[in-house]
Amino acid sequence: MKKLVVSSGAGISAESGMMTYRDAGGLWDTYPVMEVASAEGFAANPPLIHEFYSNMRKKMQDTVHPNAAHLGLVDLEKDFDVRIITQNVDDLHERAGSKHVLHLHGELMKVRSMRHPERIYQLPCDQLTDKGLTTTVDTRDPYGDPVRPHIVFFGESVPEFEPAVGLVQQADILVVIGTSLVVYPAAALLQYARRGTEVYYIDPNPASVPSWVHVIPKKATEGVADLIKLLRNQ
Ligand code: APR
Repeated sequence: MKKLVVSSGAGISAESGMMTYRDAGGLWDTYPVMEVASAEGFAANPPLIHEFYSNMRKKMQDTVHPNAAHLGLVDLEKDFDVRIITQNVDDLHERAGSKHVLHLHGELMKVRSMRHPERIYQLPCDQLTDKGLTTTVDTRDPYGDPVRPHIVFFGESVPEFEPAVGLVQQADILVVIGTSLVVYPAAALLQYARRGTEVYYIDPNPASVPSWVHVIPKKATEGVADLIKLLRNQ
């Protein structure tokens, strides 16, 4: 089976109702990014960070569902060995049913111990002092340690980047979906594709990319449907 590697960004979840970050009216227009998504912001105002991510979790659980683009990628598992690398912190690829998902920027539905970062808890979690989707500076894990969102903040390293590069290097087909390609190192992944790898980029407002990339200038749901037809007719 050919290996099809997907690199997804906020755009794939836009039609599910998740805000993108940099489009007009996106999340970083509404909230100051350095306050809610940076290591400095977290150090300066941890209650705000807990509130922000707790609210996002509730929204994601209550009102956001996988769309036809997420589901289309699951369908492609019939024909390809599909590996997903996502910059998204939502769990829509998993909820759609994708088997292999690597989160470059962390996961909204997880928190981790501030003292032992390898202790990661999926929310809701019986072992925490807060049992729901809300965490605060007072939330404790079973060892009595405070927790923080399992999110890669600006200014922090991206531990999943190397495994992601490994996947891209093995790709026969690489599909980039819904990302402005401005945040590094994620934006650099494209450069690791081997010569001869077929590369597709689905985005209604695509960033400029090298000429060997096949751009599908459509929304994710339509673009993934086109891609499936194209790959199945090859
Ligand atoms: N379908 C596909 N793409 C879409 C759609 C859609 N329906 N709607 C918008 N887009 C595209 C936009 O054209 C844009 O190129 O999604 C992209 C969203 O870009 P960003 O908001 O910059 O999101 P992303 O590239 O995922 O951001 C990267 O930045 O702050 C961070 O950590 C956060 O993971 C995030 C990273």
